[in-house]
Amino acid sequence: MAKINANYKKLPGSYLFSMIGKKVREYQEAHPEAKIIRLGIGDVTQPIAPKVIETLHSAVDEMGDASTFKGYAPDLGYEFLRSVIAEKDYRDRGCDISADEIFVSDGAKCDCGNIQEIFDTGNRIAVCDPVYPVYVDSNVMAGRTGAYDAAAERFENVIYMPCTAENGFVPDLPEEIPDLIYLCFPNNPTGAVIKKAELQKWVDFARKHDSIILYDAAYEAYISEEDVPHSIYECDGAKECAIEFRSFSKTAGFTGLRLGFTVIPKDLETGGERLWPLWARRHGTKYNGAPYIVQKAGEAVYSPEGRQQVREQIAYYMGNAKIILDGLKGAGFEVSGGVNAPYIWLKTPRNMTSWEFFDYLLSEANVVGTPGSGFGPHGEHYFRLTAFGSRENTVEAVERFKTL
Ligand SMILES: Cc1ncc(COP(=O)(O)O)c(C=O)c1O
Repeated sequence: MAKINANYKKLPGSYLFSMIGKKVREYQEAHPEAKIIRLGIGDVTQPIAPKVIETLHSAVDEMGDASTFKGYAPDLGYEFLRSVIAEKDYRDRGCDISADEIFVSDGAKCDCGNIQEIFDTGNRIAVCDPVYPVYVDSNVMAGRTGAYDAAAERFENVIYMPCTAENGFVPDLPEEIPDLIYLCFPNNPTGAVIKKAELQKWVDFARKHDSIILYDAAYEAYISEEDVPHSIYECDGAKECAIEFRSFSKTAGFTGLRLGFTVIPKDLETGGERLWPLWARRHGTKYNGAPYIVQKAGEAVYSPEGRQQVREQIAYYMGNAKIILDGLKGAGFEVSGGVNAPYIWLKTPRNMTSWEFFDYLLSEANVVGTPGSGFGPHGEHYFRLTAFGSRENTVEAVERFKTL
């Protein structure tokens, strides 16, 4: 008899977004006249930049001509894309990363979820609390955690690192030594960033204890402040202890096109084993490459016109972030994030739980956000707002907050 992977049964249902959807639907049915504004969306809303669209069209035409048609992509991704990434995202920032250390994929979610496969199931992971759920859930599926403790809202055998107002939503170095450390900056959901000197401490810690840092930099393009690193490889020694994930989703609006990449330095090793060949093997065996037309579109993002156009899109979203941040501060709310990230992290007023505030905001202001408790126990009494809406809706939502 075939048996299922029982680790999947450890996962509690994905309650957060289904519950939000249900509550919003029920409210709208009961109040058909209400104009609900969604500030909870984690998806971009602006169309793909014109330069990228133009490149997509010409790449599509290439696919229709026998002399330029492309079949399977090379295992690591097309050289034209990997070399422009290595140059513009890394070498231009002083990071010594080469094109053959870049693995092109169809997005950061898959890579963040799949990377754990090249590590032993006995490894102990450390994650931030609150956290983007993919890191923990993919390790649960692999059997690297114990059972779920519903009361504590935690899995056994996972090191949770609290991110609180006291530590500026940047975790303290853990007392127990993890084998794998997931870090994400700029952070989803808190919008917090890590300064270079702080990140250097993590790199030093990982090197001292032979841990590997899995660094998710999906929101790197939103960084506006000078001393905030765009890549972990800006830190000394990071090539000896870190893997980095990047995405075109929030950088260039590719959530529907799908493109990302993972950086694994050639010499990165653990226990005398290099990780690059393992991920290359995994990539070659289980993945057949992002489409040629999408990789061409990705290359166009780095062209002068493409860069200018995606910068304008990011500036638009960050304009929304500023409106939310300033407006809510002015209205007496405690808010953070939103300066180097499209997320604003709001402390719920009057000690309301995250879900109480959700209901209150929906009924009193017809605005929807995401309860912080859905990202982990330390997200309780917090609420995530995003800058991905339209300007008009963002302004209107902030006006409604002021009436609360
Ligand atoms: C922290 C973080 N990493 C990765 C992703 C996924 O990116 P992609 O669309 O490239 O799969 C997201 C998407 O919301 C995210 O918030």
